[in-house]
Amino acid sequence: MIVADHLSKHFKRFRRDPGLRGSLRTLLTRDHELIRAVDDVSFEVPAGAKVAYIGANGAGKSTTIKLLTGIMRPTTGLARVAGFDPHTQRTTVARRIGVVFGQRSQLWWDLPVLDSFRILRHLYEVPPEVYHRNMALFRDRLDLDALGATPVRQLSLGQRMRAEIAACLLHDPAVVFLDEPTIGLDLMLKQAVRDLINHVNAELGTTVMLTSHDIGDITGICDQALVVDRGIVVHQGTMRELLHSVDTRAVIFEYVPGTASEAEVVGRIEAGLPEATATPTEAGRIRVVYPVRRWSARQVISFLLDTFELTDVLIPDADLETVLRRIYGSDPAQAAPVGGAR
Ligand SMILES: Nc1ncnc2c1ncn2[C@@H]1O[C@H](COP(=O)(O)OP(=O)(O)OP(=O)(O)O)[C@@H](O)[C@H]1O
Ligand SMILES: [Mg+2]
Repeated sequence: MIVADHLSKHFKRFRRDPGLRGSLRTLLTRDHELIRAVDDVSFEVPAGAKVAYIGANGAGKSTTIKLLTGIMRPTTGLARVAGFDPHTQRTTVARRIGVVFGQRSQLWWDLPVLDSFRILRHLYEVPPEVYHRNMALFRDRLDLDALGATPVRQLSLGQRMRAEIAACLLHDPAVVFLDEPTIGLDLMLKQAVRDLINHVNAELGTTVMLTSHDIGDITGICDQALVVDRGIVVHQGTMRELLHSVDTRAVIFEYVPGTASEAEVVGRIEAGLPEATATPTEAGRIRVVYPVRRWSARQVISFLLDTFELTDVLIPDADLETVLRRIYGSDPAQAAPVGGAR
């Protein structure tokens, strides 16, 4: 449904030295640097998938979405959405996609929300039954009625985002591109948005491509992950594969206070479980991190039970935050791709 084939977008940024003299020199020399915002990126997203496009600030996520939605033209390479070229066949693609840029409004700033919907209905030639079904859904899930008569410029951020998300889904698009769709939303509203996206995906098979710095959005919506680092895709596969790409796991435990000092506990673990590390966290808690190729959770827990007087044991899920921290902090040339990176 979405194809990026050796897609690149390079920007020239003129180097500018500070001060007047610097500005003059910039004008004269036109000295520039090349920014590889998207650098030879290839991937395919099948119809109906919910893929997270994950990466640190400046990794090239928004630029990729602009290439895929036809807002920008690639420097080299090819984009395809629902079989069409988003840049040269922009109108055809526009009818099949919905886009939300959390950072920027897509609505008519001076018009009341409901008028925006009426315009979109005509622009996209939304059949009456689809229009009414979706408006009922948005009323129910996003409390859209409360916003209807207010001009977009007077809406709060959360109110505007509700309107943006509804607007992007109004014409039953085959693909939605959501670039930070829950930015600035409160907890309840974030959940309502996640539920709505999952609902349209389940009901209509809508393909979802999402970027977010909120891990809850990623784990609450997506089943596939593409991780981009400085313009390059470094991981591609299912969310599960991404989570399991870490080769260490953790067990956290508490023990009866006073039965051993923290230093003793750490020493005994590191002697009894070679290659594991033990770190005291908050009061009376120890975090044991072990390599999965050497130890199983069961072995680690039996060792702890045999060695200490435990009062509590916790096995945290392989957490996305740890995985992402490692990926963001790594050199892209060293990072091994997961799954089917092409
Ligand atoms: N129009 C532009 N002109 C010049 N450079 C640009 C332009 N748009 C983006 N860039 C640069 O391209 C790189 C990627 O930017 P992009 O907005 O795609 O990142 P992002 O992954 O969306 O980051 P964030 O998480 O902060 O939204 C950055 O270094 C940015 O400064
Ligand atoms: Mg961005």
